[in-house]
Amino acid sequence: MLASLKPKVASILSDSAESVANRLQAVCTLLRDSVDYYDWVGFYFKNGDKEELKLGPYAGEPTDHTIIPFGKGICGQVALSNENFVVPDVTAQDNYIACSITVKSEIVIPLFKNGENIGQIDIDSNTPDPFTQEDERFLEFVNQKVSQIL
Ligand code: SME
Repeated sequence: MLASLKPKVASILSDSAESVANRLQAVCTLLRDSVDYYDWVGFYFKNGDKEELKLGPYAGEPTDHTIIPFGKGICGQVALSNENFVVPDVTAQDNYIACSITVKSEIVIPLFKNGENIGQIDIDSNTPDPFTQEDERFLEFVNQKVSQIL
């Protein structure tokens, strides 16, 4: 299922006639529309020289959390840890920023450019505990492909 999305992701990202923002937007929409437990899909990127993340392209409900300081929430922790963060149950997390009361679980995968953690893909799910290692490997693939066009 996820594997079948890889060629589509690669094709969208390689379309140099589109802006990078449009390509990232199209990837978010593809993922959200294609995977039933992906309810909100977005990219956050380091905001210039600031120790904070800024929301980039996303698909799903608008969020108030367009700026997230490093260390805050799941996203802010991944900005510092450089590691995947899979949250099967968001209510079990102390350091969590709720975007919607319908969200049950979350996965955040860091995005590296030349070895530097410059952002992440963040997915919220309304399904409890849906994410597996297959999601981690797939989203690492997505981020590698994104990294190539940044
Ligand atoms: N839940 C995230 C905040 C971003 S929203 O999910 C879009 C967090 O705890 O960092």
